[in-house]
Amino acid sequence: MGIYIPTTMADHWLKLLICVIALSSTKVNVRASEMVNITLLSNAVEKGAVCLDGSPAGYHYAKGYGDGANSWMIYLPGGGWCGRKQSCIDRVKYSPMLSSTKNITQENFGAILSPNKTSNPDFYNWNRVFIRYCDGSSFMGDVKKVDPETNLHKRGSRIFTSVIDELLSKGLKDAKNVMLTGNSAGGLATILNCDRFRALVPNANMVKCVSDSGFFIHAKNLPNAAGRERTFSRVVHFHGISKFLPKSCTSRMKPGLCFFPENLVAHIKTPLFLLNSDFDKFQIQVNLKPHPVDNPGWVNCTRNITTCTPPQLQIIKDFRNTFLETLKGVGNNPSRGLFINSCYIHDFLYLMGRYNSPDSPKLHNKTIAQAIGDWYFNRSSVRLIDTKIDYPLDCKIGSGNFV
Ligand SMILES: *[C@@H]1O[C@H](CO)[C@@H](O)[C@H](O)[C@H]1NC(C)=O
Ligand SMILES: *[C@@H]1O[C@H](CO)[C@@H](O)[C@H](O)[C@H]1NC(C)=O
Ligand SMILES: *[C@@H]1O[C@H](CO)[C@@H](O)[C@H](O)[C@H]1NC(C)=O
Ligand SMILES: *[C@@H]1O[C@H](CO)[C@@H](O)[C@H](O)[C@H]1NC(C)=O
Ligand SMILES: *[C@@H]1O[C@H](CO)[C@@H](O)[C@H](O)[C@H]1NC(C)=O
Ligand SMILES: *[C@@H]1O[C@H](CO)[C@@H](O)[C@H](O)[C@H]1NC(C)=O
Ligand SMILES: *[C@@H]1O[C@H](CO)[C@@H](O)[C@H](O)[C@H]1NC(C)=O
Repeated sequence: MGIYIPTTMADHWLKLLICVIALSSTKVNVRASEMVNITLLSNAVEKGAVCLDGSPAGYHYAKGYGDGANSWMIYLPGGGWCGRKQSCIDRVKYSPMLSSTKNITQENFGAILSPNKTSNPDFYNWNRVFIRYCDGSSFMGDVKKVDPETNLHKRGSRIFTSVIDELLSKGLKDAKNVMLTGNSAGGLATILNCDRFRALVPNANMVKCVSDSGFFIHAKNLPNAAGRERTFSRVVHFHGISKFLPKSCTSRMKPGLCFFPENLVAHIKTPLFLLNSDFDKFQIQVNLKPHPVDNPGWVNCTRNITTCTPPQLQIIKDFRNTFLETLKGVGNNPSRGLFINSCYIHDFLYLMGRYNSPDSPKLHNKTIAQAIGDWYFNRSSVRLIDTKIDYPLDCKIGSGNFV
């Protein structure tokens, strides 16, 4: 699930752009983005903290400085899941960026990871860490046994805890401000790992989690509900995740259902910010698949909303209403932050055009960067939901992942 177009092409252009900027500018700290080398986790293989293909876990680390020297951001990227033997084999074969660290050298740090003070004013000088997503389980799996026939390793949870453990020794243990964040499958990982992460950094004054486009809904009333449940159940079973899911959920329902944030969020104690579109393009295009027999033009419709038939458009609006209803069900904890817009978009935090630019989505005149900063630093409560619009907004900002 989740057809991500790898970012390598974009990386080449960014490298070129950064060279040009580096040559034309004498100020080093104002670059729009920076390339950060990979660090392979030490003793990763001994610890069993390895990617699907058995290669060592890795992360990219940019050191903090100035008043950010004791603040840490941990970023978990997205990239869908694999929940069956064959789909994990395919992932190793066709998506090496999401299943291995073998050929990874650098990562582009932009948007919420950007070192540019003007465009990322609250976090530009923090210690910033991008953990590579190479397990296919939202950093949750842990199966000790390796099937000799496939050589698939299911160790997402060990990757997460082992990398955090190594970062603790690099200064995270003395951090005063900490944020766990991520987008898509990484936004879900942020929700799933939020309280567990809080327990790993007991000395920090403030630990908060920001999930971008990770609020995947079950939407029992809408087409393909069984498909959505099956996808998550497979991931949970294949990667041995049940034991890590909160008892408060698994005592009430099947473990597969405890991968849906709606069944977990009410029990999360750590402050959590949910950033999402209520017309989430990935959820509408990929998860909300009406049976092709009923809806022959669904793919065309979700690619170009103006071509949707009235019944198709109704399904999309129903998704929106169900999304907002589901969100209401997660309770009213005052430490929660919300930024729910109506752009027909999935993922906001890793493209500057969406995160913080003149054209980026705003609610109450706040960009996403301002909203997250205001919420993180308690400058104001942020609970913003766009309820005016009942049609997916065409927010043409940045280049998208989905076609
Ligand atoms: C830093 O961000 C500001 C505001 O977005 C932009 O005007 C400036 O060009 C950026 N700096 C570089 C070197 O890209
Ligand atoms: C990143 O890696 C490249 C290639 O190995 C190396 O030339 C460069 O010095 C490294 N940069 C840093 C900051 O370590
Ligand atoms: C790494 O790159 C080499 C050379 O381009 C290629 O042969 C190999 O298949 C790649 N491995 C992975 C896991 O991407
Ligand atoms: C979808 O769009 C393509 C290209 O525009 C067209 O050829 C095809 O017939 C459309 N499919 C349906 C089911 O409308
Ligand atoms: C979407 O469909 C409309 C109506 O068929 C067409 O005019 C428009 O060019 C299409 N847009 C894109 C981006 O393909
Ligand atoms: C947003 O800014 C505009 C122009 O500065 C102002 O007119 C409007 O009242 C503001 N809206 C909100 C919700 O603050
Ligand atoms: C922000 O508010 C929370 C609870 O509302 C509190 O625990 C925390 O200490 C506050 N942080 C700052 C920096 O004021």
